[in-house]
Amino acid sequence: MANTDVLDVAPIGPDQSEAVWPLSIEAGWNQNVADWRFMLEAGRGFGCRGADGRWEASSLVLPLGADLAWISMVLVARSRRRGGLGTTLLKCCIEDVRRAGAVAGLDATEQGRPLYLTLGFHDLYRIARWHFDEATETVEPPSGIRIRPVASADLPGIALYDRPRSGMERPAILAHLAGRQPGLAWVAQNDAGECAGFILGREGRAANSIGPVVADSEAIALALIGRAAHAVSGPFILDMPETHSRIGGWLERQGAVSPRAYTRMTLGEAEGLDDPARLFALAGPELG
Ligand SMILES: CC(C)(COP(=O)(O)OP(=O)(O)OC[C@H]1O[C@@H](n2cnc3c(N)ncnc32)[C@H](O)[C@@H]1OP(=O)(O)O)[C@@H](O)C(=O)NCCC(=O)NCCS
Repeated sequence: MANTDVLDVAPIGPDQSEAVWPLSIEAGWNQNVADWRFMLEAGRGFGCRGADGRWEASSLVLPLGADLAWISMVLVARSRRRGGLGTTLLKCCIEDVRRAGAVAGLDATEQGRPLYLTLGFHDLYRIARWHFDEATETVEPPSGIRIRPVASADLPGIALYDRPRSGMERPAILAHLAGRQPGLAWVAQNDAGECAGFILGREGRAANSIGPVVADSEAIALALIGRAAHAVSGPFILDMPETHSRIGGWLERQGAVSPRAYTRMTLGEAEGLDDPARLFALAGPELG
């Protein structure tokens, strides 16, 4: 162990958003204080402080309906790694999810995955993190599809549309994101006026984060991504299940690069979560 004085696990409340933020900055992650505040309000944070009172490790459980909860923001300060803090916090999150009677899911970095495998998580599919500065090509929606900005009256319908396609129940997250950056919030409708897809996003510490993107087809998803990326300036990040090669090709033509990947994992079985056929971008590894 790098350091033996492992401290007690303490809850991290929303008032600690700024105090805990340096952990995600040190890891080079994109969250800003608004992200931490939202997650700590909507979920339950657990962490460890050093002797000087600063947060040295964090973790978070975000409920996504009654049956599923997302574990995220598992961060240990560089100086305290390989000392058991990550495992301690993860076990605490798993216990919290078990008590709630839910299945735990997460998007693992390459660094986090070995730890999750030892605790019984299994892989669902891989996700590529894309970075790009701007969209140069415009994309027309398929015929019969109209794309327009999301209005607050659309939110209940978007949440209903999202639920079976993402496997997550997350109306509060969708409503939060729609308000965070309206320029990234678009809905696709078919001729009958029914929802055929949507895109949301948020500003971040270093880049605008695009996602979630949920749609009836890859063509609609691509049109939504193109519309959002033209409405707001970059740089952008986007986390896409690796199977969607047409969007991958478009991203490459915009000069996008994919320096890292995640693996979606669960501890137990969560219905609908293993099939990304209609899920074209995550809300982010921290939001599901
Ligand atoms: C991933 C992370 C949280 C691990 O925290 P930690 O406190 O160092 O983890 P632990 O000390 O509890 O490690 C437990 C075990 O996990 C495995 N493990 C942890 N980090 C590993 C690594 N980089 N490579 C291989 N195995 C690793 C080892 O089996 C380790 O046991 P050991 O040290 O006895 O060999 C930490 O490295 C970190 O904050 N990384 C950056 C952020 C990140 O990627 N978070 C994960 C998000 S999914």
